[in-house]
Amino acid sequence: MALNTINPTNTASWSKLQQHFDDMHKVTMQDMFQEDVFRTAKFNLKWNDFLIDYSKNIIKQETIDLLLELANEVGLKKAISDYFDGEIINQTENRAVLHTALRAKESAVINVDGQNVVPEIYEVKRKIKAFSNEIIAGERTGYTGKQFTDVVNIGIGGSDLGPAMVVEALQFYKNQLNVHFVSNIDGDHVNEILKKINPETTLFVVVSKTFTTQETLTNSETIKAWFLSQEFGTKQEDIAKHFVAVSTNIQKVTEFGINPDNVFPMWDWVGGRFSLWSAVGLTISLAVGFDNFDELLSGANEMDDHFKSAEFDQNMPVVLALLSVWYNNFFGAESEALIPYTQYLQKLAPYLQQGTMESNGKSVGRDGNPVNYETGTIIWGEPGTNAQHAFFQLIHQGTKLIPSDFIGFVKPLYGDDEHHDKLMSNYFAQTEALLHGKTEAKVQAEFNKQGLDAERVNFLLPFKVFEGNKPTNTILIEKLTPKSLGSLIALYEHKIFVQGIIWNIFSFDQWGVELGKQLANSILEEINSKEIKNHDSSTAFLLDYYLKNK
Ligand code: F6P
Repeated sequence: MALNTINPTNTASWSKLQQHFDDMHKVTMQDMFQEDVFRTAKFNLKWNDFLIDYSKNIIKQETIDLLLELANEVGLKKAISDYFDGEIINQTENRAVLHTALRAKESAVINVDGQNVVPEIYEVKRKIKAFSNEIIAGERTGYTGKQFTDVVNIGIGGSDLGPAMVVEALQFYKNQLNVHFVSNIDGDHVNEILKKINPETTLFVVVSKTFTTQETLTNSETIKAWFLSQEFGTKQEDIAKHFVAVSTNIQKVTEFGINPDNVFPMWDWVGGRFSLWSAVGLTISLAVGFDNFDELLSGANEMDDHFKSAEFDQNMPVVLALLSVWYNNFFGAESEALIPYTQYLQKLAPYLQQGTMESNGKSVGRDGNPVNYETGTIIWGEPGTNAQHAFFQLIHQGTKLIPSDFIGFVKPLYGDDEHHDKLMSNYFAQTEALLHGKTEAKVQAEFNKQGLDAERVNFLLPFKVFEGNKPTNTILIEKLTPKSLGSLIALYEHKIFVQGIIWNIFSFDQWGVELGKQLANSILEEINSKEIKNHDSSTAFLLDYYLKNK
């Protein structure tokens, strides 16, 4: 059944939120904390080993009540059932959206076109398990009989970002295999990887849902040609030992020369940016072992259950999505920062940039009309404390409102408490500083202590005062494990879904990336034939310059 089409701005709750915003604009978080000692007790959520404190937001109970009313008015409850039940909610591509089925329990029944897909999912999982175990244990060897030492994942977008982020995040749990990622069509990227590997001991995992993506096909052809170089003494049939593929397009994979036995299938109801749970996660399973991969899936599955069953006011993805709508649509905040206080999550922001911005970067409503309100937020971020020394100045004292998520862990992985306590003191200090800022009185007192003269004080005062009142969510998790990481990723996936429902857009297509791909193909033909065709004067000028100087 199709998703409903309700312009959120036409709902009663939206009008009430607009009026409420006019009042809230005049209050500060500092005052609200002063007035209500129970504020944090009201605005926090606990689930499994996750704690979310969202009290440092510019909200009152009334704000949350109205946002929840909005969620109900746009039919969020039914949309969630449609999502999990495999309804065709990706209507422009005529597909169900079932990455959640990939992490469902084996006993679940999830139908697509009247067919339960769970048995096939588990068949592929068993294939991933057997293959990973054999490679890790050295039972499958390369063309000279040597054990594999390196794995190269060749893919881009969702066929790269998810596995790359998770392999980085779960480094602590990694085995002996060295894992590399080739994504960019930039030949320098692939050549840098080739420098590091030995063809005798390297496994290549070509990941492409469509198997038509220019970057992945070009990189794979380059790597295949390198692998078959005379100097290595390799033969065509050795490809079967060294190349495997993950795709829905078995025919194209076979044409490329990969043995159909070496293909790990996926399905068109898995969107690229939500595909790490499928065989796209093969590289994850190779890097950390199948059991850890399965833990990642079970963590996501637990978050799915929470999202499906928790009341909206206790529902982590729903609350995070509603807060984001509050800032995006009422305060006019354009971006959100994501600051994990662990180096392991350094690729979380780039990963969620695709998840969030490819999904919700849309300007046409589900009714086919242009939207008359803001949609997808811009996501960016870097791990703390590095981020503090890079861009925090702008969050503290710039002119833009940047709601930020602070993600931290109670326990470090190596048990180094001295470092961890320092790291976490920064994590807590930053959200506190963003909330309170620094008042004129405080700055003045500091100056008095330093004995500064009045003229200098007057000059410096405005620069040293911080207004504070900057919203943050604090997400505090027990420990970074495959399971908690799975839950964390699923938390953000569902936040994206809720936002898309409220904004009345289709979150699971990505037509916007197609035009550039088509133009690149025709420009490539012109570069090859050295014949520049009809372009605007800027593009023609640049192409001419490139051709003359290359
Ligand atoms: O950038 C567009 C896109 O289609 C993404 O959605 C997808 O993750 C990526 O390209 C890669 O696609 P494929 O897995 O088919 O190579």
